[in-house]
Order: sequence, then C-alpha cells, then structure tokens
Amino acid sequence: MNTYKIAVIAGDGIGPEVIDEGIKVLDEVARLDGGFRFEFTHFPWGCEYYKQTGRMMAQDGIEQLSKFDAIFLGAVGSPGVPDHISLWDLLLIIRKSFDQYVNLRPVKLIEGAPCPLKDVKREDVDMIFIRENSEGEYAGSGSWLFKGKPNEVVIQDGVFSRFGCERVIRYAYELARKEKKTLTSISKGNALNYSMVFWDQIFAEVGEEYPDVKTYSYLVDAASMFMIKDPKRFEVVVTSNLFGDILTDLGAAIAGGMGLAAGANLNPERKFPSMFEPIHGSAPDIAGQGKANPLATVWSASQMLDFFGHEQWGARLIDCIEQVLCDKQTLTPDLGGNSSTSAVGDAIVEKLQQYKGD
Ligand code: NAD
Ligand code: IPM
Ligand code: MN
Repeated sequence: MNTYKIAVIAGDGIGPEVIDEGIKVLDEVARLDGGFRFEFTHFPWGCEYYKQTGRMMAQDGIEQLSKFDAIFLGAVGSPGVPDHISLWDLLLIIRKSFDQYVNLRPVKLIEGAPCPLKDVKREDVDMIFIRENSEGEYAGSGSWLFKGKPNEVVIQDGVFSRFGCERVIRYAYELARKEKKTLTSISKGNALNYSMVFWDQIFAEVGEEYPDVKTYSYLVDAASMFMIKDPKRFEVVVTSNLFGDILTDLGAAIAGGMGLAAGANLNPERKFPSMFEPIHGSAPDIAGQGKANPLATVWSASQMLDFFGHEQWGARLIDCIEQVLCDKQTLTPDLGGNSSTSAVGDAIVEKLQQYKGD
C-alpha cells in the first residue's frame, strides 16, 4: 500500500488544536479509500521548543524534514518570542530551504460560508491566488546601521530575480491555460520603479507564449478596492510575496474568514517536500479554548490530497466542508456557532461516510 510520510509541525497557539482535526480527517480519508495510508511524524518545534532550547527547530531540522513527502503545519508565533525570530527560523526557512516558490491560496466563497459583501453573488468570489513565495519583499536582505544611534538607518531590500519572477509567473499562466481562466497580475510599477516595473515586464514577456490566456494587470491599491467592489474580475491571480500575503487575508475576509483560508507552499518540481497549512496564525486570543475553526486546516488537507494526485478526495473534502457549513449545526464561534474545534472535525468525518465503499 502507498504510504505518505507526513512531517507534522503543529506549532503554537491554536496550531495543535487545528492540526489534530486535519490529521483525523486525513486518516479517515485513507481508511475509506483503502489504497493508501498516512504516516504522521510529529516534531515538537515552535515557540515552546525555542524557550527550552534557544532554537525554533532542531539544528538539522531541514535535513530531517527533507525525507518526508509533505509537511503539515499548524501555526507559529507566541507573544513571548519576537515574531521575526519565530517565523524566520521555522516557517520562512522551510519555505525557502525547500524552494516552495508557489504559494497557492484559494479565495472561494463556497456554499454556506458567510460573506460581508453586499450585492455580490456567491459564484463571483472564486479566485486562486499564486503568491511568489521565495524572494521579493521577503528575501530577508538588508542592513541595520548605527543601531540605537541618532543616525540609525534601516534598509530592507526587495529582491526580484528574473529566474524567480519567470518561474512563478509561468506557473500562473500554465494554471490559467489549464483551467481556461483569465490571469491577473497585481503589482505596483508606478511607485516601485525597479522591482515592479521588472515584474510587469516579465509578466508581458512570458505572456507572449500564452496568447490563449486573457490577462489583466492591476496596481495593488486598485486591486484591493476591486476585490471588495467587484470580485468577479479575479480568477487566477499572480502577485509578489508581500502583496500576496496581504491580499489573501483580504481574500479570507470575503470568503468566510480566517477560519476557512488555506494555503499550499509548493515546490512544483517535487525535488523537496511541499508544505500545507491554514493561512491564519496562532491566534493567541483564542488558543487553548477549543474555539479555533479547523476548516482552514481541513481545506489545506484537501490541497495535500490534490498534490498527491487524489483530486477526487480533495474535492470531496471541500464538499464535506460545504455541507457542514450549510447544516449550521456544528460551527465554531467565528462562524456564529458554539461547537468545539474537535466537534467540527468529527462533523467532517461523519460527512465523509457518504463515500464509504465508493
Ligand atoms: P491570527 O491569524 O493568528 O489571528 C487574527 C484573528 O483571526 C484573531 O482574532 C484570531 O482569533 C482569528 N483567527 C485566526 N485563525 C482562526 C481560526 N482558525 N478560528 C477562529 N478564529 C481564528 O493573526 P495575528 O493575531 O496577527 O497573529 C498571531 C500570531 O501568529 C503572531 O505571532 C503572528 O506572527 C503569527 N502568524 C503565524 C502564521 C503562520 O504560522 N502561518 C500566520 C499569520 C500569523
Ligand atoms: C502567512 C503568514 C506569514 C507570511 C508570516 C507568519 C511570516 O502571514 O503565511 O500568510 O507573511 O507569509
Ligand atoms: Mn499572512
């Protein structure tokens, strides 16, 4: 039987609570399928580990993770540890070390999910964001001069390589072509006169190879406005690391909230493991109370199934999420219910039973 080896980094805050449900659901999918299984290996890395060891992960952590088929990550960050340390030394270093240069984030308003927008049809919110995930504003390049002195200077570089831009933009064109959808690039060439002019140029250059793909280009400020006012403009979207980070939280807000928003960090060449996670953080405000919505994690489990070639199960999981949302019987407080995190996981498992023997 095919065994998928999954490294689990449950992490901090609500991370372990939501990951438990993701594992529960994946195990049930494998049981119902009968043709594959998951082997989960838990790593205790995160802010507690940092407080005990001074490191966010083991020294050879990246090497340990490299042996897995995928990584399933909860959330990282705790009020006691500076965010730039906890995130750089765990989440961001994994994305970079494993060249997970595509961050695939659906912004889709599925049946039953709440939407704060007026006069918007459900099917109008159906986007897939491709966020550049390896460089750009997150290159980690810069300097801090004359620290603490009156003449202190801080520089944070945006790094946009031809190689890095081309490959993610090409991935987006390929996806748009495959899905027969439009492709929108979001940038800011009017103000960022090097990086974003370059991005726009590469978007146009690569586009010459895809005459069949209808394209649009928006400045990020206008794009933010149109995502709210007229979301149907956006189908496949490609954008830089920072813009993608911000716009997908905005996307989460119009597609059911942070409790539903998932993301896949992909190394498309499969040279390294890819990583699947909810896009929300560790939510210290609700951690440890069993209130966290696990559906974003379940959605990221669906992305993992897609990535392993089990698209039918991936789609079934999204159907189960929709059914749980439409029933309105078992929802966490963020969605107006009073059920616990694990009760929502159980509800998904129950919905999965309709596929028994299929
Ligand atoms: P957050 O996403 O943790 O929380 C924002 C708000 O959304 C909070 O009110 C929270 O209660 C709510 N929320 C988030 N996920 C939820 C869920 N599953 N169910 C119900 N409500 C949910 O963002 P933040 O407060 O800005 O950051 C908290 C910490 O998480 C920080 O340390 C930050 O750096 C870190 N962070 C980590 C990741 C990650 O690990 N991928 C992502 C974002 C933020
Ligand atoms: C996300 C998160 C991370 C990011 C943080 C925690 C570094 O916000 O995955 O969206 O900015 O990429
Ligand atoms: Mn984010």
